[in-house]
Amino acid sequence: MMSDEITLTVIKADVGGYVGHSSMHPALMEEAEERLESAKRGGLLVDFHVTRVGDDLELIMTHREGIDNEEVHRLAWETFEECTAVAKDLKLYGAGQDLLSDAFSGTVKGLGPGVAEMEFEERKAETVLIFMADKTSAGAWNMPLSKMFTDPYNTAGLIISPDMHQGFRFEVHDVLENKRVFFDCPEELYDLYVFIGAPSRYSVKAVYHKETGEIGAVSSTTRLSLIAGRYVGKDDPVCIVRCQSQFPAVGEVLEPFCLPYIVEGWMRGSHHGPLMPVALRESNPSRFDGPPRVVALGFQLANGLLVGPRDMFDDPSFDEARRLCNIIADYLRRHGPFEPHRLPLEEMEYTTMPQVMKRLAGRFEPLED
Ligand code: F6R
Ligand code: MG
Ligand code: MG
Repeated sequence: MMSDEITLTVIKADVGGYVGHSSMHPALMEEAEERLESAKRGGLLVDFHVTRVGDDLELIMTHREGIDNEEVHRLAWETFEECTAVAKDLKLYGAGQDLLSDAFSGTVKGLGPGVAEMEFEERKAETVLIFMADKTSAGAWNMPLSKMFTDPYNTAGLIISPDMHQGFRFEVHDVLENKRVFFDCPEELYDLYVFIGAPSRYSVKAVYHKETGEIGAVSSTTRLSLIAGRYVGKDDPVCIVRCQSQFPAVGEVLEPFCLPYIVEGWMRGSHHGPLMPVALRESNPSRFDGPPRVVALGFQLANGLLVGPRDMFDDPSFDEARRLCNIIADYLRRHGPFEPHRLPLEEMEYTTMPQVMKRLAGRFEPLED
């Protein structure tokens, strides 16, 4: 349905890596730009920006069709299909990796690509940051979102801005059981943390301004392995955050990334590693296929036009975070195949346990008391 409000949609997929899973060939981005340019000329999109983090192609789009719109999702799906064809021609690695279905069925949800989208009335000045991560998984936004919207040590506005002092409402998804629950903060802060402190199961899907109900943040929360029933790559999530005025300031939204906190992902989607905030040009996870990276692009919206981007982590004030990240990466790597560097058995995306267990089953003897 047409709407006066603007919708900001980010849809991403890995449709082929260059080299290996480390980065993206420019030909894929050129193909995506052509496709989205023609959708803009045709009137479906107000504006768009094609980008990437690591090996993930990111389509940032504005339009007036609302969230979950079939035509916008179809556009993204067909763009990924065309980019897959380019990736196949160049024999790039894992061409079409995240397209889990042969056919589009009304939405990209459940078909492999990750989606974060929100519809809102543009404010007098609409500042948005788009976070995109590679070599990690959906729950990776839980810690930064909770710091931005609940932690006074991070966000001064929670204490000293009258527009934010009432707090925020969190929508949390149980990705295993496909359920959702809301928490009003700060009143239900301790209940919120019971769940989101377990990010492999509970993901912050969205955050709302409590007084007005306005959406402040939304993330992608899919787990590909749950959709496909087998390992098909990590979920490399995205997250959109509106900033300033009644929402945290840009600096409050970026501040949580000064801590290279530990996420699931890295090599073979089966390791814990620190998340490194980087400029786009540095988002090429190469060491042990990592460490996991996060890029933040900032825009001002002007009647749906994406004015920008600014590459927000391209700033020496994140140098120490990157340095600490490398130190943590060294330390964790020395654990080799041991937990907690390697993920617990049930969380690993690659495992040989069933085969090895089957082969050795006869050699397991009961222990006498
Ligand atoms: C992690 C990732 C890579 C691959 C690894 C093995 O999300 O994409 O670490 O898992 O390079 O890739 P394959 O199995 O494709 O050789
Ligand atoms: Mg890949
Ligand atoms: Mg990726």
